[in-house]
Amino acid sequence: MRVLLGLQTLALAILLSAGGSVTAQQFGNTGTETETVRPPDPARGERLFKECLKCHTIIPGEIKIGPSLAGVVGRQPGSVPGFGYSQDMINFGASGIVWNPDNLDRFLTKPRGVIAGTKMVFEGFRRTSDRDDVIAYLSTIRG
Ligand code: HEC
Repeated sequence: MRVLLGLQTLALAILLSAGGSVTAQQFGNTGTETETVRPPDPARGERLFKECLKCHTIIPGEIKIGPSLAGVVGRQPGSVPGFGYSQDMINFGASGIVWNPDNLDRFLTKPRGVIAGTKMVFEGFRRTSDRDDVIAYLSTIRG
């Protein structure tokens, strides 16, 4: 152990004397994402989806605090009949886009970062793997 620590200190000293800067990232968690990429896991996504079930269901057309998320991948944003969307969500959908893994990823990172006036009060999933897994799960739910 002592030897190992010594080696680590030595490596650090060499790195520093070589003019390199040592960031926290090289030596541990900075609070930002440093994850290894792995294939999305829809089964894990289903478990994470519990967070979303507070406000959404996957029953087509059903409205809770938020609209049904059945078939959301491939759907125009703001288009569930009878749900009172924010004007910003309606405008977002009117631009002619559909929800896809890419824009869902950005929305679920920070909803207000994508749609400033959204009514969705959710702090977002910080971890890429959490977002990937939930989106993979949502992709399996048809409308
Ligand atoms: C606290 C309640 C709440 C939680 C928790 C929540 N949402 Fe929402 N969500 C909403 C509301 C309200 C809207 C409508 C937003 C608007 O009109 O601006 C919405 C809208 C959406 C939309 C757009 C739907 C459409 O028809 O265009 C998606 C996609 C979405 N949520 C996904 C999720 C996912 C995935 C989760 C879990 C990670 C989640 N939401 C968690 C309340 C919530």
